[in-house]
Amino acid sequence: MSVDESGPTRILKLKTAGGAECEIYLFGATVTKFKTASGKDLIWLSSTAKLDGSKAIRGGIPLVFPQFGQPIKEMAQHGFARNNLWEFKSEKSSDTCVSVCLSLDNTVATHEAWAFPYKLEFDIVLEDFKLTTTYRVINTGPEPFKFQSLQHTYLNVTDISATSVVGLQNERFLDKASADPSALNLDVRAQADIKEFTDRVYVNVNARNNTPIVVKCPTGDIVVHGSAYFNDPANVIPSDTVMWNPWAEKAKGMGDFDDDGYNKMLCIEPGLIADFHVLPPASEMGLVQVLSLVV
Ligand code: BG6
Repeated sequence: MSVDESGPTRILKLKTAGGAECEIYLFGATVTKFKTASGKDLIWLSSTAKLDGSKAIRGGIPLVFPQFGQPIKEMAQHGFARNNLWEFKSEKSSDTCVSVCLSLDNTVATHEAWAFPYKLEFDIVLEDFKLTTTYRVINTGPEPFKFQSLQHTYLNVTDISATSVVGLQNERFLDKASADPSALNLDVRAQADIKEFTDRVYVNVNARNNTPIVVKCPTGDIVVHGSAYFNDPANVIPSDTVMWNPWAEKAKGMGDFDDDGYNKMLCIEPGLIADFHVLPPASEMGLVQVLSLVV
């Protein structure tokens, strides 16, 4: 691992012996780059993203906690994990992978509308063709708390018109782009194209099976496997997946989103978000994302 100290916030740079690369800003513990050993960039980052710590990074893998969207109106959308400075905890490397662990707790980031003792840990494991990110929420206080968490992954699909998503057939979803965002819909499509503003929460995607989502795009098949667990990684619990593309008009409305960026990205975001989750004291819930490329 090397550390870039030249900018306003530190950047960790990981590289495998085979040549895969990953970059992580301590601000938000945001992964902004995952390049495979074959040189394919799988993560999208807006060229107008603020990288100086003044705003959550637009692109990469921002982390959402303790709320998704803004159910608690006094708190910023998607909570405070993505716009605080995380601490570097440890680093490990072997012949095939490089990994780091970052953390954040209530001594650094909190909010009066959600004032519980907590700890977040984020493990990033880079291999030649795979990036595994494990996001743990730990209750360090004496009382249970309710939370939502999510890895807001921006995939670099390079051309949305040549992209389709496999693995969501027969899943139920809330359509935040529709007139009734609380209605449950059924996705019947074996292969889903993205041709307009899309903002969907697929609910309990792993309840029936453990099928990954495959994003077919000019780069190859980007496989996104999201899962969640309670206390022990073997104790898998249902998790949700967001699919988001702001499309042209909304992209233009965001100052830090390239005007034509919607043509090149698609968010597939594993999360614990369809509802708030209750976490008892001295317990943890983990959210694991495995990103890989099949060419
Ligand atoms: C997605 C949400 O996860 O994030 C969208 O489903 C939201 O509703 C999008 O617009 C981006 O959010 P933000 O706060 O980063 O602009």
